[in-house]
Amino acid sequence: MAGPLNPRRIALLGATGSIGSSALDVIARHPDRFAMHAVSARSRVPELLAICDRFRPDVAIVSDESSYASLRDGLKDLGLPTEARSGAGALDEIAASDDNDTVIAAIVGAAGVASTVAAARAGKRLLLANKESVVLAGAVLMRAASANNARIMPVDSEHNAIYQCMPGDGSREGVRRLLLTASGGPFRGRSRASLANVTAEEACAHPNWVMGRKISVDSATLLNKGLEVIEAHHLFGLPADRIEVVVHPQSVIHSLVDYVDGSVLAQLGNPDMRTALAYGLAWPERIDSGVAPLDLAALARFDFEPPDLQAFPGLGLAFDALRAGGTAPAILNAANEVAVAAFLEGRLPFLGIPDLIEATLAAQAIEPAADLGVLLASDREARRRAGELLRKMGIQ
Ligand SMILES: NC(=O)c1ccc[n+]([C@@H]2O[C@H](COP(=O)([O-])OP(=O)(O)OC[C@H]3O[C@@H](n4cnc5c(N)ncnc54)[C@H](OP(=O)(O)O)[C@@H]3O)[C@@H](O)[C@H]2O)c1
Repeated sequence: MAGPLNPRRIALLGATGSIGSSALDVIARHPDRFAMHAVSARSRVPELLAICDRFRPDVAIVSDESSYASLRDGLKDLGLPTEARSGAGALDEIAASDDNDTVIAAIVGAAGVASTVAAARAGKRLLLANKESVVLAGAVLMRAASANNARIMPVDSEHNAIYQCMPGDGSREGVRRLLLTASGGPFRGRSRASLANVTAEEACAHPNWVMGRKISVDSATLLNKGLEVIEAHHLFGLPADRIEVVVHPQSVIHSLVDYVDGSVLAQLGNPDMRTALAYGLAWPERIDSGVAPLDLAALARFDFEPPDLQAFPGLGLAFDALRAGGTAPAILNAANEVAVAAFLEGRLPFLGIPDLIEATLAAQAIEPAADLGVLLASDREARRRAGELLRKMGIQ
């Protein structure tokens, strides 16, 4: 167990993001338990330098090669011994390195898949926030983890809740259904027609969570919940028809497991990602995460409602992709990443996001997900097709 003599050595991939900063907050509370081996960002060098100054990692990585010189010079100016590295390959190397035992996968998007799989192959404790890598390559990732004794600790709050509520022996014994809760996002209760002109700022104004912009848009389309359904299928080994989504606007019940004897176990807490991160970092122990205790009397009530699949078709598309299997989830994920980027840049309207995903899925043949190479090729092809479809719609 981690303690003063053998702290866990952490590689935090995506350190400058929303999950990254929550992870740093938990880690900073327990300097005797955790030592920072490596941190990474894509290109935001000033933010990464500030993290290096505070946490003194051995290695800092920018995946964007053109940011390397400013990282290297910045570390020198700060008088830090931290080694600068760059490129996607450096992420994979650090994820597989023997110099750390715990990898926090907090990169956004399919860009995180190679390092996530590398960490699983190296048998690490893998704190998995990067849900896109599970959607893209879930079967490959789970096989790599099981063959190499990697322990995947889900960081997504819903999957972390399910992990905590599943049978302690790691089986699925007696489990009837998984119930994933969804906040409903900033547009809950709105009709499809009323969403035609919503802006990126409105879509990113989540009622309960402060998150990166991509996942915020995913929450607004409910595609995030769809990605989570696929993620739950891989992490917990249940088919699509035993995974249900219920909207719970307070975001306090993070998800539930329904057992055949009628028991339903739930995990509750304030909506703050530090709980899931602290759980994954310290498991099987429990440590302070800085999250305030839950005040049920102040909350007063919990509400539940079914998701509105007319206004938010993204969730249905994800269920369809999961049922279709093979490369379908990879195509769905890639098309969504292209669509969300176009929406955030003001090029595609909000309702165009599920439309583009549906059109890309219709345009591309689904193949068996034989290995990571096939899945990555399918991801690339879906991005190309989605870009082409955008251009046909007159969107550059
Ligand atoms: N935020 C949440 O509360 C939350 C909850 C559950 C799950 N998740 C999942 O956790 C992941 C991270 O989400 P987030 O909200 O923390 O995202 P975010 O705030 O946008 O941060 C993304 C991080 O990844 C880095 N990055 C972006 N593109 C990259 C690329 N192409 N290659 C390498 N690194 C890249 C960013 O570096 P730069 O800063 O240099 O751009 C940043 O460090 C996502 O998969 C999300 O779905 C997030």
